[in-house]
Amino acid sequence: MKAFIGGFAVAGMMLAGNAMAVDMPAEGKTYCSMCHAIDKKKVGPAWKDVAAKYKGNPDAEKTLIAHITKGGSFGWNIGVMPPRGMGAKDEQIALLAKFILGLK
Ligand code: HEC
Repeated sequence: MKAFIGGFAVAGMMLAGNAMAVDMPAEGKTYCSMCHAIDKKKVGPAWKDVAAKYKGNPDAEKTLIAHITKGGSFGWNIGVMPPRGMGAKDEQIALLAKFILGLK
């Protein structure tokens, strides 16, 4: 009986773990993932680190949309981001900026 209850707890933890894992939206995979990942640095900064950088900034969304659209360097000292990543459209950039800022 004890083992049975233990098994339940482990299954529950695995479920909770799955619910917390965030996946990149399809737009991000297409236009950004060759340089970005959610929680690790690749060619560009981890998107979680970007969310942390803009935490509490009321202009965060506008700023990110402008940065992603224009490309360039934003103080990470890693390199230069190409405008629109690999060619994302305005509405895709808006969606991705929201997604990035929603990461914790
Ligand atoms: C060719 C590689 C490359 C691609 C593709 C790319 N990025 Fe970047 N990105 C970078 C680099 C490099 C930086 C860091 C620039 C620096 O050193 O400041 C960066 C920085 C950023 C930042 C931080 C901006 C800030 O204000 O701090 C965001 C947000 C971002 N990228 C989003 C995206 C999104 C969304 C896409 C897809 C539409 C994308 N990137 C595609 C290379 C890339």
